[in-house]
Amino acid sequence: MDQVEEVKSKVDLVEVISSYLPLKKMGRNLGGLCPFHSEKTPSFMVSPERQVWKCFGCAEGGDVFTFLEKIEGWDFREALEELAKRAGVKLKFFEPTDKSQIREKLIEINKLTVKLYSHLLNNHPAGERARKYLTGRGIKKETWEKFRLGYSPDSWDTLFNFFVKHKIPVSDVAMSGLVVARSGNDRSFYDRFRDRLVFPLADSRGTVMGFSGRVLDSTAKEAKYVNTSETPIFQKGALLFGLDIGRSAIRDKNEAVLVEGEFDVLSSHQAGVENVVASKGTALTDKQAAMLSRLAENVVLCFDTDIAGDSASRRGIELLDMAGVTVRVADLGSAKDPDEFAQKDPKGFGAAISKASNIYDYLIDSAVERFDPATADGQKKIGREILPILSKISDDLVRAHYIEKLARVLGLDVGLVAQAVEKKTADLGGGPTASANGGLHGVNTTMEDYFLALFLAGDKVVSRIVEMIDPSDFSGEAQRLFWKAVRDIIKHSKSNSPAKIVHVLPKDFNDFVDQLYLINISPAFSEKELWGQEAFKTAREIKITSLRRQQMAIAVSLEEAQKKADSKEVGRLTKKIDELLKQRSELEQI
Ligand code: CTP
Ligand code: MN
Repeated sequence: MDQVEEVKSKVDLVEVISSYLPLKKMGRNLGGLCPFHSEKTPSFMVSPERQVWKCFGCAEGGDVFTFLEKIEGWDFREALEELAKRAGVKLKFFEPTDKSQIREKLIEINKLTVKLYSHLLNNHPAGERARKYLTGRGIKKETWEKFRLGYSPDSWDTLFNFFVKHKIPVSDVAMSGLVVARSGNDRSFYDRFRDRLVFPLADSRGTVMGFSGRVLDSTAKEAKYVNTSETPIFQKGALLFGLDIGRSAIRDKNEAVLVEGEFDVLSSHQAGVENVVASKGTALTDKQAAMLSRLAENVVLCFDTDIAGDSASRRGIELLDMAGVTVRVADLGSAKDPDEFAQKDPKGFGAAISKASNIYDYLIDSAVERFDPATADGQKKIGREILPILSKISDDLVRAHYIEKLARVLGLDVGLVAQAVEKKTADLGGGPTASANGGLHGVNTTMEDYFLALFLAGDKVVSRIVEMIDPSDFSGEAQRLFWKAVRDIIKHSKSNSPAKIVHVLPKDFNDFVDQLYLINISPAFSEKELWGQEAFKTAREIKITSLRRQQMAIAVSLEEAQKKADSKEVGRLTKKIDELLKQRSELEQI
């Protein structure tokens, strides 16, 4: 057994997946809500027997490695290394990859940095100004400790020397994004963060990937915020500040509040709004939208910038919509930002979040406030702003709803507005339902696959059913080959149990069998008699469809023969069609 197989055999897929989402027993499989797209009824299936998973909503699927690759954003080696660690398998041929070695080193460096800076903020005289600053802004010590805030002293080398003292090689420090190389000398560095309040930026599990730092001195000429520069583990657009702390509240509420800045997050928490994260002043990236949509189906935008006029926020809204998230907008009233609102009126802030209005209502209302819908010019301007937005709504019903609203507001015919939206859709190439939402309407179980899954779920081979269906009755190539192989095994080995048949099937069929095992069979069909009825019913359905298909094919030939006035052929084909019709009507009567 190779080591990949060994690792795989030592970990349980169900256990791994269960640490990310709740799974419920559904027949012989386990099911849950898919973490990779948004849904209300579970179409995410896990087969404990085959150790494979599949989502029947978005077509994602695979084994334990692909699950971790997808949900953690790892590559195969990272997934393998992590699972090997968990399973206690020492990978012989896999020296830790450069990539994962670097990752570990940088994480270690960040840990040390948190240690130093939080010590300076919490226990050191040098941190006095930063403590005063925080207190002055109404932030409590327990809050800043929860977020592991720190203080970088007004010095060029405190952090660098701290690394030297801890024997971190300079080459590693150079990669950390926390020091800056002096020009013309690549062995000499100075600290990036000086006299700043420091915010750790962690992934959803709390591993610190980078930092941001805010100036304390409001008259300072430098940028108000600086971040760790890009490193192999830190890209600004791949993190959300506060995600590690807010994650469980976001999950519980099925809602994330998205704010702009670090202080917005801190003050929200103090006001009792804990399901909050910050995008750090930049437009939401698709990575961030995906992270949020995995945790919650609702996002409340709580920005101080004008969303309606801002194309960057519109892109973020579109990304969330495509991820199946319902987006709402909170009204900050006269407050400058969520931080100010939450500090001044904590209760009111919470209320504003729960009263948030749907993003499309908000955008239409905002356009109507700015342009007069009673004039042709106003209508044109409102249309120009709103039509492209409506055309991108991925859910047909939601889109129809807002087309109607826009028509009402403009006093125009719904059909006319719908047409305009369609045209925009066409202009934008492909439209909202094409590839963007991952083919939500795509994959369903076919009758043929369901039949084969039922067959495998039975405990005995029922020859009446096996003989009834010929390989050629399947329209799918894979199904045809599989059924032929199954019938051969039955014929030659006289094997009488589907489980045994699967055991002796050629390896080529492994993937196909995985897919069949993932199809959910109602637990009711573990009752033998009910199973028999269902299997027969399904077989009959397949046979009838097959007869209909054959009949159609012959009808085409018949038409050709008639055109050529080939009376012999016409007679032969007519007789064939009659036979098919007779077979069909017999089946339909059972
Ligand atoms: N930001 C940044 N770089 C800057 C300015 C802002 O990364 N030069 C990010 C920070 O994450 C900041 C957020 O954008 O928290 C919002 O910026 P801004 O509106 O300027 O925040 P203020 O409310 O003015 O700043 P603060 O709350 O820190 O007083
Ligand atoms: Mn602010």
